[in-house]
Amino acid sequence: MTSPLLSIAGLSAVSDRDGGAPILRDVSLTLERGEVRGLVGESGAGKSTIAKALLGILPRGVRITSGSILFESRDLLTLSAKELRGIMGSDISLIPQDPQTALNPGRRIEAQLTDGLRLKRGMSSGDARRRALKLLEEVHIRDPERVLRAYPHELSGGMRQRILIAAAFALEPKMVVADEPTTALDVTVQKQILRLIRGLQEAHGTAVIFVTHDLGVVAQICDSVTLLYAGKVIEEGRTSDVLAHPQHIYTKSLLAAGPRYDRPDAGLTPVPQAVFEQLRREIGIPEGGR
Ligand SMILES: Nc1ncnc2c1ncn2[C@@H]1O[C@H](COP(=O)(O)OP(=O)(O)O)[C@@H](O)[C@H]1O
Ligand SMILES: [Mg+2]
Repeated sequence: MTSPLLSIAGLSAVSDRDGGAPILRDVSLTLERGEVRGLVGESGAGKSTIAKALLGILPRGVRITSGSILFESRDLLTLSAKELRGIMGSDISLIPQDPQTALNPGRRIEAQLTDGLRLKRGMSSGDARRRALKLLEEVHIRDPERVLRAYPHELSGGMRQRILIAAAFALEPKMVVADEPTTALDVTVQKQILRLIRGLQEAHGTAVIFVTHDLGVVAQICDSVTLLYAGKVIEEGRTSDVLAHPQHIYTKSLLAAGPRYDRPDAGLTPVPQAVFEQLRREIGIPEGGR
């Protein structure tokens, strides 16, 4: 039997900023090679905390209290900074949420796309440039020669997000972590970007952790899904099973509320208050606490 690419087991974290309030509660999940797993939940559920833990960039104020994150059987939580640098950007990479801020405004796209190829893969500038052109073609950018010469502000938000996706796949990582990569984009561009990520991950056999608050997005691109509430796994399984046969009343309510359950003003049925009360009882969140 082969072990999964990623195995998070019993991961708990607290907030030192918030008097030790729990952020993650005994979270476990696995990811096979080439699998796309959605991490879904409302704001504050702990999705980004998991994503950051996977990238070795947990912020000050967040403290892991127990658990392990095995990536190819090595616990990311116990590696040295040097060992983490060897993995991050190389075997594990990020597609960030905000294409506006993720690129360096003062450097041309060519420099930003070829740095990793030269420094981490030892390519010559010529080879790195050729590879960068090929990557831009893979993310369907027309006139890649011009784009390589451009600065970020000369490109649209959708273009910048395509470039960040190209950068995330540039070093053939084994796992890409995408933290709400389409939230800042308008709906038509969102769809294209989701198709693009799915296409690249299929072509390269890359596993993806896809963070989103949107079950509609999960339905579109995730093979499997882990639903979180207040840092606790409420439901998990194959996407098709979870969507067709949700087990927990919270999942059922979210599905009934429609894909934009986070927007009660969209005129959809919100999740009933009683469901949140049940969740809090189950998880053991005290009255008025977290
Ligand atoms: N740097 C930090 N220090 C302390 N607590 C934090 C920090 N960053 C986030 N948190 C807390 O962790 C919880 C989960 O946040 P996050 O993982 O960002 O949720 P999500 O991405 O699902 O919206 C929140 O309650 C938040 O206040
Ligand atoms: Mg987040």
